Amino acid sequence: MRGGFIRNSLLLTSTVLLLAVICSFSCTAEPTRFGEHSVNDFVSESTCKQCHAVIHNDWEGTMHYNAYLDPFYLEEVKVASHDTDGLVDEFCSRCHTPIGVVSGEIPPIDGSGMSDISKHGVQCDFCHVISGSDGIGNAPFIVTPGNVKWGPFGDATPSYHETEYLELYTQAEYCGMCHEVIHPVNGLVIDDTYSTWKDSQYGKDNVVCQDCHMTGGITEFKANPGRAGTGGPKRDHISSHDIVGANAFIPEIMGAQDVAKKAIERLQNAATLQVSSPETAAEESEVTIMASITNSGAGHNIPTGVSEIRQVWLEVRVTDNEGKEIYHAGALDSERNIISAKLIYNTVLGDSEGNATESFWLAESMLEDNRIGPEETVNEEHTFILPEDITYPLKVETILNYRSAPQELIDKLFGQGTYEVPVIRMNEMSSTIYHPDTPMEERTEATPGYGIVAATMSLLLMMHIFKRK
Ligand code: HEC
Ligand code: HEC
Ligand code: HEC
Ligand code: HEC
Ligand code: HEC
Repeated sequence: MRGGFIRNSLLLTSTVLLLAVICSFSCTAEPTRFGEHSVNDFVSESTCKQCHAVIHNDWEGTMHYNAYLDPFYLEEVKVASHDTDGLVDEFCSRCHTPIGVVSGEIPPIDGSGMSDISKHGVQCDFCHVISGSDGIGNAPFIVTPGNVKWGPFGDATPSYHETEYLELYTQAEYCGMCHEVIHPVNGLVIDDTYSTWKDSQYGKDNVVCQDCHMTGGITEFKANPGRAGTGGPKRDHISSHDIVGANAFIPEIMGAQDVAKKAIERLQNAATLQVSSPETAAEESEVTIMASITNSGAGHNIPTGVSEIRQVWLEVRVTDNEGKEIYHAGALDSERNIISAKLIYNTVLGDSEGNATESFWLAESMLEDNRIGPEETVNEEHTFILPEDITYPLKVETILNYRSAPQELIDKLFGQGTYEVPVIRMNEMSSTIYHPDTPMEERTEATPGYGIVAATMSLLLMMHIFKRK
């Protein structure tokens, strides 16, 4: 995808071909096993920072940086380990602390054998010593730690370390090693981010994960010219390493406000909302509000990843001119549980008895899949009767919300009152309902119709699905 600048010269093309031949051997090798390397084979991120300060600054505080230190993960893995008598210990750790696993430092799952470097989660000298992959899902990476750093360039000649080109770095399959989680015993696909992407229009057009998550474009590729390292040449594009998804909750707890802010920004570019409400309605009459939500910005489902834990829902609130509440769906109660939402857009997993469970290590089936697919539009209809004694005009607020986890689950793990899981407004619309007798000229606020104009616009935008050129 990356425009000519790598593959233009014949010389480079033949280097690439040669590497492809080498890769056809190393890429079919077995995934790196537990304890195959020593922790001393890996270099601390603080060393890479000396010359890759911008990239380091991007990465710091992201969920890759926090993949192991994430307190939510640490609590959940304790429960998972307990529930399965330690059977999942290596499995979970392989993605959340890959150096810990390949250097044989974890399990034990309590982390007692881990050095500082393993605790730094998905880090520079893990990602850039990946020298091949044995496929998709459950982390089938092949790592070759040492002086060679593997990457996307093909022509980098730093003096400090050697480099090796591997096309995998520019492909979704790189991310797909870890962003596809398959239950190791019963084969249930728990996280289908890669496969959903692959089957979507984005996958067909080869708009890869990196295009949206490693450029400044949020939902499309956007070139970011600069230098990749001190002393390196100026290049047309340097990928950003602030690989951010939707998680603003954990970054905030870990003090990475900038990462939380970027996650919110991404969420606010993920979905469009169209709402239609009647322009007028009399007291005691029935009112219907129609809302359509379109996944216009994500190359996979909304939500994706641990979608059995994530929550996306529509809140519809109607108040009269004095602020009296007439209708409220999707509100939070005093314990921050979501009440009377039409639907929570996520997955519901079932355990061996067919009961819903958020503990995905115990899951044997998927009971419900209510996520919004890439480019998919879903509709919600809210109908209620207007009471008497209300003052016009009425205000209709429709809000699309995202929450990283149910408050109940976080309270159960950490104790009530420890953390309040933030509710993020992905999108919102408001409209007005007038009394039928209100003269036209007094209906000051335009009430949107079915949003046909907006819908057409977003469709047009979607047709230009944006590739790196
Ligand atoms: C999750 C894995 C991952 C982590 C963690 C990571 N990188 Fe990268 N890095 C990549 C990928 C993938 C690319 C290529 C992206 C592309 O070209 O689309 C890349 C590209 C690069 C490049 C080439 C220049 C550029 O930005 O395009 C450098 C240099 C680099 N990374 C250094 C680092 C350093 C230093 C760290 C730690 C601070 C780091 N990386 C952390 C995956 C990672
Ligand atoms: C003494 C300076 C220095 C240090 C320390 C350093 N690098 Fe680099 N690195 C460079 C320079 C310079 C480049 C070339 C940039 C270019 O050509 O645009 C580079 C390039 C890279 C590339 C791109 C390779 C390619 O061909 O795509 C990766 C990946 C990378 N470094 C990773 C790392 C990692 C991981 C560490 C820490 C273990 C590290 N670097 C430490 C200076 C350094
Ligand atoms: C067209 C742009 C686009 C592409 C392509 C894309 N993403 Fe995303 N991604 C987004 C947006 C927007 C969000 C925020 C909405 C959401 O949570 O789904 C997001 C969120 C995420 C999240 C957090 C999800 C959650 O709800 O917790 C993960 C993880 C993720 N992406 C990984 C990937 C991976 C891996 C790929 C490639 C297989 C990929 N993305 C491809 C735009 C994209
Ligand atoms: C070695 C495994 C590994 C690789 C390779 C990897 N990731 Fe991740 N990624 C993780 C883990 C583990 C987390 C989550 C940590 C957590 O939430 O505790 C994560 C988190 C993320 C998030 C943040 C999700 C959120 O909810 O905000 C995004 C976005 C993401 N990865 C995208 C990518 C992309 C894009 C690539 C490829 C360039 C990639 N990852 C490669 C393991 C990996
Ligand atoms: C194949 C890689 C992989 C394996 C194996 C894996 N995870 Fe994850 N995990 C991820 C990725 C990627 C994410 C981020 C997805 C997202 O943000 O939606 C994640 C996110 C999470 C989260 C949410 C963290 C947050 O801050 O919101 C928890 C909790 C978690 N994993 C626990 C576990 C446990 C427990 C196990 C073992 C039973 C496990 N994981 C196994 C890749 C993996």
